[in-house]
Order: sequence, then C-alpha cells, then structure tokens
Amino acid sequence: MRTIISRIDSISASDSSVLLIGETGVGKELVAEYIHHTSVRSSNPLIKVGLSALPPDLLETELFGHAKGAYTSALSEKKGLFELAHTGSIFLDDIDDFPLPLQSKLLRVLESRELMRVGGTVPVPVDVRLITASKVDLKELVKGGLFRADLYYRINVVPVVIPPLRQRAADVPLLVDHFLRRFSTGEIPAIDDDAMKALARYSWPGNIRELRNTVQRITLFVRGRITLTDLPVEIREENPLELMIKACNRCFSEDKMSFDDVVACLETNLIRRALKESMGNRTHAARLLGMNLSTLRDKLKKYNLPDQV
Ligand SMILES: Nc1ncnc2c1ncn2[C@@H]1O[C@H](COP(=O)(O)OP(=O)(O)OP(=O)(O)O)[C@@H](O)[C@H]1O
Ligand SMILES: [Mg+2]
Repeated sequence: MRTIISRIDSISASDSSVLLIGETGVGKELVAEYIHHTSVRSSNPLIKVGLSALPPDLLETELFGHAKGAYTSALSEKKGLFELAHTGSIFLDDIDDFPLPLQSKLLRVLESRELMRVGGTVPVPVDVRLITASKVDLKELVKGGLFRADLYYRINVVPVVIPPLRQRAADVPLLVDHFLRRFSTGEIPAIDDDAMKALARYSWPGNIRELRNTVQRITLFVRGRITLTDLPVEIREENPLELMIKACNRCFSEDKMSFDDVVACLETNLIRRALKESMGNRTHAARLLGMNLSTLRDKLKKYNLPDQV
C-alpha cells in the first residue's frame, strides 16, 4: 500500500488522468479520494459516479446534463455531473461498464474541455481532473472491440494497479490492527499468532472490504483475546493448497491465462512454497513435493526460479 501511495504522491502535483485497476474491495474509491484530497483541486468538488449503478438511458443526461425542452419532461435545464465537478475532479467508477455509444462523447469532452448538454446548442467549458476505476484490464476490452482505443489512451495516462490482498499478505496484520482499533468499543483485543497467520493466509476474495467486515464482526463478540476458533470457518480451514488452486482457477476463469499459464502458475507457487518451507534446501523441497530432485531441478530451470524465496 505504501508503494502505491508514494507513486500517487509523486503525481499529486500533476493534473493527469489516473486509471485505478483492481478487484472489488481493494480500495479504489479510497485511493481516488486520496488523489483528489492531495491535489491542487482539493478544495474544489470531487464528484463520484458509479457508472454501473446508473441506468444506461439516463447516463448521458446524468453526466452531461440537458437543455430546457430537450425532451417533453425536461421543463428546465439541468447541469450534469461533469459540470458539477467543474474545477475539481470526477471519479468514474466501473469505467469498464461504460457503454460504447457514449464513449465517443466522453472522449470529445475530455479532449475539447467543453461539453454540449443533451439538446443544447451552446458548448459549456469544463475543467475537471479525471480519475477512473476498472475491475478488469481495459486492454482486453479494447481488443474485444468493447472499449474505444482512443478513449483508453486518454484515461490511462497514469495507471495505478492495486493488487488483491492475497498478493500482499504483509498488509493483513496492519489492516487487522487498524480495524480492531476502529471497531472495538472497549479495550482492543489481542490476537493469537495462529489466528493472525490464518488471516494472512486466507485468499480474501472480497479483499479489504471483506477483511474489514470480518474484523468488525469479530469485535462484536470477542472479549480479551482473539483465537483461531473466533474466526469464520472458511478462514480457519482454508488450506494453502486449496488457496493456490483457487488463485489459479480465478486467473483461468477470468480468461486472462491459457491452460499452460495456469499450470505454470500453480507449479511455480507450489515450488516456491516448498522451497520456503525447506529454507532453500532442494532435496528437502523435492521430498515435500513428492518429486525427484532432478525433476525439481528441471522445473527450477524452466521457470527461472531462485532457490531462496
Ligand atoms: N488501505 C486501506 N486502509 C483502510 N481501509 C481501507 C483501505 N483500502 C480500502 N479500505 C476500506 O475497504 C473498503 C473497500 O474499499 P473501496 O470501496 O475503496 O474499494 P473498491 O476497490 O472501490 O471496491 P469496488 O470495486 O467493490 O467498488 C472501504 O470500506 C474502505 O474504506
Ligand atoms: Mg468502488
């Protein structure tokens, strides 16, 4: 998280468009707020728009407003969210859901820095800093013809990838501590080592949001000390192998990886774990994996893995 924050700090003085990429619950919205509040625009509005929550037929007028009489129910003119964000920032969440027909209009607004309300005839100048968020790799959508390449380049000036929690287990104890402080009403409970280990090992498909809710629930009934048995059963009992398979399974179902990639990913993870457990001793690691030493050597070479991981 610190790496991400320092990357963001280094661009806080610039006005560039930022694209936040990460799974659900990793903290995209929080990061978007941080970007705005540390920017020169911080005392101006930050308008947040959940694109997937808006009905497609309302999207255009919500974003860009409409003129009086644009349609029968448009009795007065209406400012869109872009106008409300004028001089500040606009956060477009779930940009991957943005309908193709509207993408060219968005691009035009971003390039020309002025917009035309629906049914309007006079361009309205808008000065906004754009922050977008996506759960998926937009490049893939571009390849599939679902997202305009020119818009992609326009919003992807500074990409910030926020990795899932399962890839930054070191953050887990810090976050647990943070949420325990935040949600405990009385004394902050201590947490057993093996309980913390289980939390750090768990795959957290809902990422920080799931961790936050889990800790909040625990603080409701635990007094004094959190032990392994206080954790939800899926966290307590998830074994490491299951975890790795789940992680690979996910890559596979998201269609990002081919069959060979998934197998390679699983093998690399298993080998890494065995080497870690055997503190780099190859003979010991091979025994843990139930394979010949020579097979292990071949695989280390194939995947270009170091002994110490
Ligand atoms: N680094 C962090 N420290 C503390 N809390 C965090 C952190 N990152 C995220 N959170 C909390 O986790 C929850 C989820 O974060 P957020 O809503 O920003 O995720 P998101 O990536 O926008 O998720 P989604 O894609 O589902 O909209 C929020 O309650 C947020 O406050
Ligand atoms: Mg969000």
